[in-house]
Amino acid sequence: MSLTLAERKKEDREQQVPPIMEALGPKSIVLIGLMGAGKTAVGKRLAAKLELPFVDADKEIEQAAGQSITEIFAEHGEAYFREGERKVIARLLQSGPQILATGGGAYMTADTRETIRQRGISIWLHAELPVLLHRVKRRNHRPLLTGRDNEQVMRNLMAERYPIYAEADITVESRDVPHEIIVKEIVYALAVKLGCRKAKDQAPRSDRVT
Ligand code: S3P
Repeated sequence: MSLTLAERKKEDREQQVPPIMEALGPKSIVLIGLMGAGKTAVGKRLAAKLELPFVDADKEIEQAAGQSITEIFAEHGEAYFREGERKVIARLLQSGPQILATGGGAYMTADTRETIRQRGISIWLHAELPVLLHRVKRRNHRPLLTGRDNEQVMRNLMAERYPIYAEADITVESRDVPHEIIVKEIVYALAVKLGCRKAKDQAPRSDRVT
């Protein structure tokens, strides 16, 4: 008897998810990457798949400050925002497991990197410039981009941040494919990283487990 797609998905989940959850323990899965990498969109779907809560660090910062990120940057400046970001992420990482999407600059703070290393598994959603540019131009809520040459800003951020992002436990290529494909690749990479399965020759294309 052949299974329907929904049944196959359910079976997949039942086989894949429990060993990952067991190996993960109280750690959080932390998504890092540049603006437009898809941390929120992918993170929400990953959370649904793993049946974990999804937490967006930027939203938590806004809630703690009672201001939007744009307002925090405008009224207090970037250094103040970074300090708030560091504190909020440290607090959030006290409770896990969860899927935590971080703002693009969060992983650049050494303290935050260290906390993530201790309490989480980091996943870098790596993306090429055209993918990022196409996505960020759809919305206009990012203070680092507002009124600036987006391409130049993104090129500079890539040069500065990609060597640091590369310290993440797992790197997955974010590209213009359905989010579910990226989620599948993340789940596979997590299973390998956490020792739940061996890497196969037929690994999904973007699966670069470091
Ligand atoms: C920032 C990225 C933003 C937000 C803030 C600063 C950055 O988050 O935290 O505007 O430094 O790259 P997203 O990466 O979710 O857009």
